[in-house]
Amino acid sequence: MSTRQFFVGGNFKMNPGTTQQKAAIIDILNNAKLDPTTEVVIAPPALYLLPLKEKVKNGISLSAQNSYVKSTGAFTGEISPSQLADAGIPWVILGHSERRTLFHESSEFVAEKTRVALDHGLKVILCIGETLDQREAGETAKVCESQLQAVVKVLKEEDWSKIVIAYEPVWAIGTGKVASSAQAQEAHVDTRAVIAKFVSPAVASSVRIIYGGSVTAANCRELATQQDVDGFLVGGASLKPEFVDIINARQ
Ligand code: G3P
Repeated sequence: MSTRQFFVGGNFKMNPGTTQQKAAIIDILNNAKLDPTTEVVIAPPALYLLPLKEKVKNGISLSAQNSYVKSTGAFTGEISPSQLADAGIPWVILGHSERRTLFHESSEFVAEKTRVALDHGLKVILCIGETLDQREAGETAKVCESQLQAVVKVLKEEDWSKIVIAYEPVWAIGTGKVASSAQAQEAHVDTRAVIAKFVSPAVASSVRIIYGGSVTAANCRELATQQDVDGFLVGGASLKPEFVDIINARQ
């Protein structure tokens, strides 16, 4: 097993629908016995970041689900990285496939947002991953490399200590079709090789690469045994009690 700290993120997306449901999830997390060696970050909708910052215990940190490239100004509906930093929110998820697909974010735009988020002191969960067509065409490694390359171009070597890479195959997100542990391991090894080649071998061995896509309590343990799977980014299951089992996948 590697020495990289296991990392589990809960991406609530645009959930839950009510403050009561939100309170129930937080109660479960606050009262659970969580593996103290796992770094746990939850990403609720922006509306809930500040109230939850006061409520979460158990060493859980907060992440935004997105941030913009500017600090202030006339950008209706956007959330600024400097505002997040000022509010004491340490993390932001960038490049999620839902943002790339539904909101047409290019890899270059994701890279620019990553650069600006780091410049404001945020840490970034950077998502990459291929569609089913791309996987079937044998393009998984190429797609992930190109998504990473855009970011590599705008970061310095030292910036990578503030990045967690989330490999999230689009075909596995919200579908119940989890990648096999071999598929996840292979993609993570390829990702690490890209970082070794274009950043440095030292960064490649220290950067955390987590897997996302239909992770559940039932499949997390096997995935967690893989040498290059350093944790998970969890969507649907992060809203359920089983999120605790996923956090504790290495116990
Ligand atoms: O960011 C997490 C994610 O996209 C995976 O979602 O619901 O398949 O766990 P889900």
